[in-house]
Amino acid sequence: MMSEDFVIQCVSPFSNDTAITVDQFWCEFDVSKYQDDLYPALDISFPDFLLGAVQKRKAEFLAGRYCAASVLRRLGSQSLQVKKGEHGCPIWPEGIKGAISHTGNRACSLVCADPGLAGLGVDIEEVVTSELLEQVSDMILVAEERPLLQQRYFDARVVFTLIFSLKESFFKAAYPIVGEYFDFDRVTVVGIDSKAQVISFRVNGPLHERFPDGSCYQAHYAYVTKSILATFVFLPV
Ligand SMILES: CC(C)(COP(=O)(O)OP(=O)(O)OC[C@H]1O[C@@H](n2cnc3c(N)ncnc32)[C@H](O)[C@@H]1OP(=O)(O)O)[C@@H](O)C(=O)NCCC(=O)NCCS
Repeated sequence: MMSEDFVIQCVSPFSNDTAITVDQFWCEFDVSKYQDDLYPALDISFPDFLLGAVQKRKAEFLAGRYCAASVLRRLGSQSLQVKKGEHGCPIWPEGIKGAISHTGNRACSLVCADPGLAGLGVDIEEVVTSELLEQVSDMILVAEERPLLQQRYFDARVVFTLIFSLKESFFKAAYPIVGEYFDFDRVTVVGIDSKAQVISFRVNGPLHERFPDGSCYQAHYAYVTKSILATFVFLPV
């Protein structure tokens, strides 16, 4: 099996227009083509915790680590293996911040070596179905976010997916700083600018000295395909 049958690089939906340079690598992968010998073929260490995992999990972990190794190589990093740390948080080489996401058949990794960056998060999500929105919205949304779903020209499923994805992206960016799990009600999305593709959000309650109650941030979003969205959180120091 050729590794190209399993994974190919694809273009990033995000332009590199942040003040600090963030390197990124995106790929498309095919779970049905996954085989264990793709790990050595792609120079990725097969971790023990994946022994006995289902094909989908082994494939998505490989695709995410392949993106991470590819972008770290481009940065000139000596270490290309990103181990899984506490609470699932990837362990990046000294001085590097990064994030990984995968969904269905897409994966990506974003990394940055600039000391001016405190945290980085990315998340790829398929647009939810109306049924899923109904089932999980109480768990994900705070009351103040509900009106955002009722905008006339903005599909509620897309709005909900963006809010959910933003919260996951922020969690990935903030977890290494906060050092513990925090729930979805700790962030409120206050606005989505569909023209600029910018999401504005606020932290509720002091999460950490770095994130006081009421602190406000912005994130970017983009369409990966018609039915896949991605959000990108960038936290300057
Ligand atoms: C961890 C979490 C954010 C991952 O998001 P997801 O949409 O399920 O999956 P994704 O494919 O986008 O991301 C998975 C990757 O996130 C990364 N990740 C996992 N835990 C992480 C953590 N604690 N910190 C940073 N990154 C983490 C990993 O690289 C993981 O991929 P891997 O297991 O193959 O290494 C999600 O599963 C979760 O636990 N969410 C609850 C916490 C939360 O979001 N709170 C809301 C705060 S407002």
